[in-house]
Amino acid sequence: MAQVSFDGVTKRFGDTTAVDDLTLSIPDGELLVLLGSSGCGKTTALRLVAGLEEISAGTVSIGERVVNEVDPKDRDVAMVFQSYALYPHLTVAKNIEFPLRQRGVDKEERTTKVKRAAETLGLGDLLGRKPGQLSGGQRQRVALARAIVREPLVFLMDEPLSNLDAALRVQTRADIVELQNRLKTTTLYVTHDQVEAMTMGHRIAVMSEGKLQQVAAPEALYAKPTNVFVAHFLGSPGMNLVEGMLVESASADASGGGGRGTLSVAFAGASVPLPAEVADSVRGSGPDVVLGLRPEALHLSPDGVIGASVIIVELLGAETHVICHTETGARIIVRQGAGAPKPRIGEPVRIAVEPDPEAYHLFDSSSGNRLGGP
Ligand SMILES: Nc1ncnc2c1ncn2[C@@H]1O[C@H](COP(=O)(O)OP(=O)(O)OP(=O)(O)O)[C@@H](O)[C@H]1O
Ligand SMILES: [Mg+2]
Repeated sequence: MAQVSFDGVTKRFGDTTAVDDLTLSIPDGELLVLLGSSGCGKTTALRLVAGLEEISAGTVSIGERVVNEVDPKDRDVAMVFQSYALYPHLTVAKNIEFPLRQRGVDKEERTTKVKRAAETLGLGDLLGRKPGQLSGGQRQRVALARAIVREPLVFLMDEPLSNLDAALRVQTRADIVELQNRLKTTTLYVTHDQVEAMTMGHRIAVMSEGKLQQVAAPEALYAKPTNVFVAHFLGSPGMNLVEGMLVESASADASGGGGRGTLSVAFAGASVPLPAEVADSVRGSGPDVVLGLRPEALHLSPDGVIGASVIIVELLGAETHVICHTETGARIIVRQGAGAPKPRIGEPVRIAVEPDPEAYHLFDSSSGNRLGGP
């Protein structure tokens, strides 16, 4: 087992900087998810660890060893791809056994290890079949068995679930988490699917255009996204982000507030007052800000602070998404529980925000960075 470290790692392909000055450490035994949209450099980052791409600048280490110049076969990593990459003419047993044969492991040990890996992944009855006679999920399990049979220092997984249907994806996702928990092998897992990231990662590293945006545990990433990009990327539906202006109004209530007025975010004809704790942490910033409100932190209520009209109502069974437009056309999604009354399309509504300070996310409108501390 080993930790993996990127230290100032850059990878250029001609004019494209696929990975841009990446510094990131994955401690021994961690399952770290690299999350980002298509083309942001996830696969490239994995391939740099595997040794399948040359590093333009910086160092990659596995354990104590800098591996920049180490041959891929000597890095002791196992990679699992979206495409399974099985040998079609070999049986399941021979596919799993392949990396052991390559290493000259003797027959008896090979047989024991293949049997054990196959049992771990529930492939015991399929050892004699060829990949063409397996379902997608079974093929991916063979690919996983082939990765674990080598007992590598590090697993590198590149969107291993994306060819599976929805139900099988959920099942295999749980299988991988369980397997990693048991083996405690340091794992870099690449995906563009935020649900996969949230459910699987001990920590999630969010990338955009080759740059690391934030790395944190799923809950922390969700609760305190460091910038607008991360805020919008996580959550389904994503966080509502509305351009507004910080406005201080004189305190109407002389008994409280320590002489301070109420700080609000004004936008689109609405004014959203900030809880005192939030106001104190962002006072003096702005005045142009982006207010972020998660759909689940909102509900429809006659005394809500934001006036809007209903554009679409999406019924999803356990919850309903009410998509609204404010007077000036800003789009706000409200997530309601199954029991909440369903508004009609075109109906004027008022949107209320939870009083919880955690419900309010404020970002600088030019840099997109979170305001009010870490
Ligand atoms: N061999 C290559 N030659 C030139 N450009 C490349 C090469 N490999 C990747 N790139 C470019 O580097 C950037 C990052 O690519 P990468 O495959 O790492 O993205 P990704 O995050 O894995 O995307 P996806 O989610 O679509 O798989 C892209 O702009 C891509 O076009
Ligand atoms: Mg990729």
